[in-house]
Amino acid sequence: MSSARPLVAGNWKMNGLAVSLDEARAVAAAVDAHPPACRVALCPPSTLVHRMAEVIGGTGVEVGGQDCRAEQSGAFTGDVSAEMLAEAGAELVILGHSERRAGYGETDALVAAKAEAALRAGLEPIICVGETLTQREAGETLAVVTGQVKGSLPKALAGKAFAVAYEPVWAIGTGLTPTLEQIEEVHVAIRATLVELFGEAGKVPPILYGGSVKPSNAGEILKAREVGGALVGGASLKATDFLGIVTAA
Ligand code: 13P
Repeated sequence: MSSARPLVAGNWKMNGLAVSLDEARAVAAAVDAHPPACRVALCPPSTLVHRMAEVIGGTGVEVGGQDCRAEQSGAFTGDVSAEMLAEAGAELVILGHSERRAGYGETDALVAAKAEAALRAGLEPIICVGETLTQREAGETLAVVTGQVKGSLPKALAGKAFAVAYEPVWAIGTGLTPTLEQIEEVHVAIRATLVELFGEAGKVPPILYGGSVKPSNAGEILKAREVGGALVGGASLKATDFLGIVTAA
């Protein structure tokens, strides 16, 4: 079983108004002019998913959501379901981002339920895991991350298209990145856990690295063992920065 194509996905977080669609347009034009080795996706806030899908639909850039509710519909004020994202034109969805785990108390079990919802709606989940600085300093990184993988990935993912994103919490938006050895150590452990969970099929899903990825460090990070792409925050907001990462993949 061969591994999936690398994926470079931009997570715009709570950034982006209609004017920002120009950046998406520029990314799509460049990707179509020079198709990169990796798949490329942009995950705008949910208010822009539909418009972005209209603007860049049919190009080599896919659109994703940043979260979804596990339920299909109901009295959940302010939430968005996987079906709604899919209807709006999303093909992927980020789940279990540390900003949601920390800010909204999302547990592994909830993330697993959301992943099932994503599959139900035909979306490809990108499931995020990562340790805090305190956990790393306590030598708990591998236990925390492999525990999150086991708890957040439902059995239903077996044989389905999905990705895992390793995002050390202390590297997000800080300009700090782990050493290549540290990245490889965690990615290799995640791969072993995926094989433990899914057998041979666990060798397929890309394992993205996320946390202060920028054009200047993307080349070496993306070449590291078991790194199958990147989940990019700040540097995905500007087409030129994001494309610098895409072309490094
Ligand atoms: P930064 O690239 O801004 O560090 O954010 C990473 C991230 O959280 C992507 O999901």
